Amino acid sequence: MCGIIARVGRDDAVETLLTGLENLEYRGYDSAGIAIKNGTGLKVRKCSGEVDALKTGLDESPTGSGTIGIGHTRWSTHGPPTDENAHPHTDTTGEIAVVHNGIIENYATLKTDLEARGHEFESETDTEVIPHLIDEYRQQTADIETAFRKAIADLEGSYAVAAIVDSDESGTGTSPDDEEAIYAARQGSPLVLGLGSEEWFLASDIPAFLEETNDVIYLEDGDVVVLEPEGYRITDLEGNAVTREMDTVDWDPEDAGKGEYDHYMRKEIHSQPTSLANTIEGRVTDGEIELAEFPAGTFADVDDVQFVACGTSYHAAMYGEWLLREADVRTAVHRASEYESSAGPIDERTLVVAVTQSGETADTLAAVRSANARGARTVAVTNVVGSTAARETDDALYIRAGPEIGVAATKTFSSQSVTLALLTQRIAADIPDAQPIDDLDAMLEALSDLPKQVETVVETSRAADLAERYLESRAFFFIGRGLGHAVALEGALKFKEITYEHAEGFTAGELKHGPLALVTEATPVFSVFTGGGDEAVQTNATEAQSRGAPIVTVAPEDHPAVESGDAHLSIPDTHPVWAGLLANVQLQLLSYHAANELGRPIDKPRNLAKSVTVE
Ligand code: AGP
Repeated sequence: MCGIIARVGRDDAVETLLTGLENLEYRGYDSAGIAIKNGTGLKVRKCSGEVDALKTGLDESPTGSGTIGIGHTRWSTHGPPTDENAHPHTDTTGEIAVVHNGIIENYATLKTDLEARGHEFESETDTEVIPHLIDEYRQQTADIETAFRKAIADLEGSYAVAAIVDSDESGTGTSPDDEEAIYAARQGSPLVLGLGSEEWFLASDIPAFLEETNDVIYLEDGDVVVLEPEGYRITDLEGNAVTREMDTVDWDPEDAGKGEYDHYMRKEIHSQPTSLANTIEGRVTDGEIELAEFPAGTFADVDDVQFVACGTSYHAAMYGEWLLREADVRTAVHRASEYESSAGPIDERTLVVAVTQSGETADTLAAVRSANARGARTVAVTNVVGSTAARETDDALYIRAGPEIGVAATKTFSSQSVTLALLTQRIAADIPDAQPIDDLDAMLEALSDLPKQVETVVETSRAADLAERYLESRAFFFIGRGLGHAVALEGALKFKEITYEHAEGFTAGELKHGPLALVTEATPVFSVFTGGGDEAVQTNATEAQSRGAPIVTVAPEDHPAVESGDAHLSIPDTHPVWAGLLANVQLQLLSYHAANELGRPIDKPRNLAKSVTVE
């Protein structure tokens, strides 16, 4: 939640910051702002609303050019999304500007103390204490870098912070105190350094500067960075030099933009043939699963496997759990936010698999930390290289879906599910007494066709027609069994998230235990057929249909349930393990088109953010 960007270079920073903020808007879009430093001092522009509103404001009241600046896009935690609460925040002198992602837990105490020393506050945010603290220490040390370090040392909580300082009272830009630098620090919130040609970036995530460079350094907790026109320095909080490896990401700059599409979500749904091919590449050779990260035997000492995840990632984790259960492995899937109370006994023979696209979800990280503390072995299945989940677990397995910008997760669900399917078979092959799936050869052979089949679904889908046909409905129900249950839950989550309509997913057999009371001719029931438990799903769908509900079958063309349904979304014939993923693409398109018809802000649904870094 919240995206920050900072940039030092030789030419004007304003456009780069604005583009970066647009690429970070998936992290929050309640308000936006930038601060630019140039020869006439520090210029701050900020407002509630999206980056577009900031741009309009800048047209009316430009900052002027400047080679050094910081920017922020916000998902509110402390204080509503007003102009005053927008970042950057400044100190009383207006010479220090700060952007921050995270939560300062001791801000109330710090604020009281600073107010007693004469500092005046303008916002309700926790962040505002930071520029005031830097100012307080600046008065004591007259050295900005030292003042920044001292201020950071006072903070408790999580933060990625970037600050610029302009103490040139003459306004000539020549004061010896007027260092051309950005000061930044990380603790518990993501911060990546981008190394361009004669320009340096700091950002919450790589898409912010992907159009400028692919060379990155993943900063770690406790790192302090100083960016200057000549280069960068990474140290610990005490000022001792720290070395971090540079990495070159193979993401395409086009991944950060919408391309020919109106929305990132549509682009990301359509890109699934490619993202899935990347996920699979090199992991199945001659009918054998080969995970370079986990050679045969890696999991021989595992007794049980727990999955922890939130939202869409939880639904993908259900896939993993189902497949392991089929393999006779003791397993459970946990909502990460409930893990502390639901985990039960775990020890060093427990494998805890954290499934998280961003690798930054606070609930999932808390579960990982709890598992680590209790001695379990931990693995992150994540999309983001160098993310906190990847660093805090024993091993990481990357889903290789490429950057996902739309708040609604789409392509990453497919890639997570496929990665987990492969991982579970690796685990099952290693554990004595466990059995990989009976027809593993057929499953792996069908996997190679999956990208092409997803392409067929995307190209031939009639989801737009159905979205229009059922748009006036009172509620939308999604049912399935086994793997189809995970898809039903995911279909409903996607639908409610971006259409704001009431949608619920059920295991098909549960309808008759209560939800059937809600069923009328105004509640279409989308019934997912995956080739497992289909007869029972059909029975449950018929029970709803006989109470008036229109039934939409999501199934292959020649499936027996299609004839009795009221409408149909077609999926190619495939192995039962992959059928749900094809059905899910149809449901992604259904949600997209319904939201589009309703004129919803598809990529930025209200009240949500892509990366939920608060518990
Ligand atoms: C999905 O569309 C959501 N936006 C949300 O449920 C998401 O999957 C969840 O917050 C978990 O995120 P993560 O995968 O980054 O951990």
